[in-house]
Amino acid sequence: MTTVSVVGVGYLGAVHAASMASIGHTVIGVDVDERKLAELSAARAPFFEPGLPELLVETQDSARLTFTSDPSAVAAATVHFVCVGTPQSADGLHADLTYVHAAVESILPHIGPGHLVVGKSTVPVGTAAELAGTVRATGAELAWNPEFLREGKAVQDTLRPDRLVYGVPDGDAGEQATEQLDEVYAIVLDRGTPRIVADYPTAELVKTAANSFLATKISFINAMAELCESAGGDVTVLADAIGIDDRIGRKFLNAGLGFGGGCLPKDIRAFIARADDLGAGEAVSFLREIDAINLRRRERMVELALGECGGDIDGVRVTVLGAAFKPDSDDTRDSPALAVAAALHAQGAVVTVTDPEGLENARRREPQLTYEEDLTTALTGAGLVLLLTEWSEYRQLDPVTVKRLVEHPRLLDGRNVLDPAAWRGAGWTYRALGRP
Ligand SMILES: NC(=O)c1ccc[n+]([C@@H]2O[C@H](COP(=O)([O-])OP(=O)(O)OC[C@H]3O[C@@H](n4cnc5c(N)ncnc54)[C@H](O)[C@@H]3O)[C@@H](O)[C@H]2O)c1
Repeated sequence: MTTVSVVGVGYLGAVHAASMASIGHTVIGVDVDERKLAELSAARAPFFEPGLPELLVETQDSARLTFTSDPSAVAAATVHFVCVGTPQSADGLHADLTYVHAAVESILPHIGPGHLVVGKSTVPVGTAAELAGTVRATGAELAWNPEFLREGKAVQDTLRPDRLVYGVPDGDAGEQATEQLDEVYAIVLDRGTPRIVADYPTAELVKTAANSFLATKISFINAMAELCESAGGDVTVLADAIGIDDRIGRKFLNAGLGFGGGCLPKDIRAFIARADDLGAGEAVSFLREIDAINLRRRERMVELALGECGGDIDGVRVTVLGAAFKPDSDDTRDSPALAVAAALHAQGAVVTVTDPEGLENARRREPQLTYEEDLTTALTGAGLVLLLTEWSEYRQLDPVTVKRLVEHPRLLDGRNVLDPAAWRGAGWTYRALGRP
């Protein structure tokens, strides 16, 4: 077993740290956020992620997992995973690499020959090659091992990923890095996980290419939803019909309010910016349209809401079901649901937002909105209900029961997850994106 450090214990790093401890490694988690460290040190997850609390308790009981703000603690480890954030920069589309540089610099004095620094953050192609020199100056090596986990399924995705990708340098250094990573991931590899060893740029590009493909698939079906809206078609039937073709596949073809979160939107924007820098902007110029289609869905949802209220939503009590960018997460970064809620508030609607897990984060992001934990209270007296994040409790709502709570039975299904016939049958005005 190896002693590893995980630098940056947010959504990715905390799950990675707990997962590595669960497969037997000794893990030192490092972060600059004292609040997060205090929670993790008490074996509590600082964010909602199914399975993480159990893993934290199990691994801390065995004393294999510790957390600290002192970067010198990494000296006890030989493999160092860098998991800090790479948000969109404040003044453009590029990724902000400040945290990656700061994290790597903070550990440089404490690493040396035989150590391996492993980047897991999503970075623009070329970042690993840029960082390799400073890491090598200490005698250590650098690998890039992009992460593909999905929030809500992060533990499962870390311990049983679809694949592991290693970006390593040429020659002996690459072989040595591969061996070290194989040792760390031995249990995961023994489960039959495919492993792809590549050079740095390919490994970095695998991550951005995968995210770009997924974003494209979502925006493709949402573009079809726009056409269905103009032509009177039903995008859900269309998606089923094209998805049966196994060259296309049905996954990621659910038309609705589009994608959000801390990854897809900023990753495709950073890809566009990096491709421009490399003189290859034309190759991914379609991603600008993917982003635009995605953002147009939010505008369309606001238009539908206004339409339902005869063009004037001022003073209307609107209940928004969902604040997180997707179900089974409390992450509200670039959340489509929250963006629509804020836009309706700006138009004068009296908006109440409810969400099983995301309210604390949502309140920090959009403090002007009203938040209500209790679903029944949130629905009571509503003049218009919008389902914007498809939590299972919202999918299972009973139209007859909910009708008794609201003032006007008007519903907009932003995720195409409810049965229109059942809701209309119960006396609701039901509308959805991409459906007649
Ligand atoms: N969240 C996901 O689902 C996911 C999936 C795959 C890849 N990624 C990528 O992983 C990276 C991290 O994403 P995240 O969602 O975990 O972000 P996050 O904001 O939740 O976590 C980042 C953490 O890094 C810490 N940090 C910042 N500077 C530091 C420093 N100098 N030293 C130590 N810690 C520092 C922050 O305090 C924070 O806790 C990003 O590049 C993201 O694109 C995320």
